[in-house]
Amino acid sequence: MRLLITGGSGQLGTDLVAVARAAGHDVTAPSSDEMDLRQGDAVLAAVSAAAPEVIVHAAAFTAVDRCETEVELAEAINVGGTGHIVDAARSVGARVLYVSTDYVFDGTKPEAYLETDPTNPKSVYGRTKLEGESRLGPEDTAVRTSWVVGAHGNNMVKTILRLAGQHPELSFVSDQRGHPTFTADLAQLLCHLAADPLPGVVHATNQGAVSWFEFAQAVLEAAGEDPQRVKPVTTAELTPPRPAPRPENSVLDNAALRNAGRPLLGDFRESLGPVVKTLLGEQCQE
Ligand SMILES: NC(=O)c1ccc[n+]([C@@H]2O[C@H](COP(=O)([O-])OP(=O)(O)OC[C@H]3O[C@@H](n4cnc5c(N)ncnc54)[C@H](OP(=O)(O)O)[C@@H]3O)[C@@H](O)[C@H]2O)c1
Repeated sequence: MRLLITGGSGQLGTDLVAVARAAGHDVTAPSSDEMDLRQGDAVLAAVSAAAPEVIVHAAAFTAVDRCETEVELAEAINVGGTGHIVDAARSVGARVLYVSTDYVFDGTKPEAYLETDPTNPKSVYGRTKLEGESRLGPEDTAVRTSWVVGAHGNNMVKTILRLAGQHPELSFVSDQRGHPTFTADLAQLLCHLAADPLPGVVHATNQGAVSWFEFAQAVLEAAGEDPQRVKPVTTAELTPPRPAPRPENSVLDNAALRNAGRPLLGDFRESLGPVVKTLLGEQCQE
């Protein structure tokens, strides 16, 4: 298929471009210089030239805390930019797979969130990503994911390994729970959904709900380090407090995929080991 991927330089996009090309798709992945989402003309020109059948829209302003103060930029990229992508997709008859987020929820539900649960974002990032969802048409899919980690870009696995190399003891919050989701696994699912559409809202995460504290322990264990070096703290104890509120419960039930008989992503622990090995190898070379 002809795919156009936005955000191809990001942590998800890097794996997505590689996985899609390895699967034999004809992939165009314009950089933000070549196609700034804020500029409708540039988006339309790039999409018209590539004439994709599907646009996988993974680009976003993802700096959650910065979104609280750079509200106009967050709106321009996450809302306006998504509108430009959808308009351009319609002009060439393409479908859009929009990568969205667990931050559309307020995190107060005790159980895992279903696709049909009411949204109530508490941060500018979450609100603008949700408004991006509202720009989609009936043929498009909003793929909500959570706690994205992988071998590329900045993410929590890298942060945990770096901190473990610098400090004897690490602290991570034990009162925020979610599904860590590995970029290579999500990339496979996005390629599947590109070929075999499932319109509407779809939750797609690796399985295995943990707190950040438990996840940091799992990362140390995978690195052959003592997981007891990680200590639990509460969000209220973080100093300084983070500008954007995070949902306490970020666990997404992948009900739409399951009910449609689509493949679910595996347990995050199966993907953690290989990524930790890759990152430790890179650390050794530095
Ligand atoms: N990270 C998470 O934990 C998480 C959780 C749930 C959902 N998501 C969603 O998953 C997707 C991928 O996240 P990620 O962590 O891989 O993101 P990321 O590493 O921060 O990458 C963001 C990408 O967006 C591009 N971009 C930013 N502004 C742009 C603009 N004005 N025009 C064109 N491209 C622009 C960036 O290009 P440049 O590098 O050139 O700026 C980069 O390629 C996003 O939609 C995000 O909202 C992420």
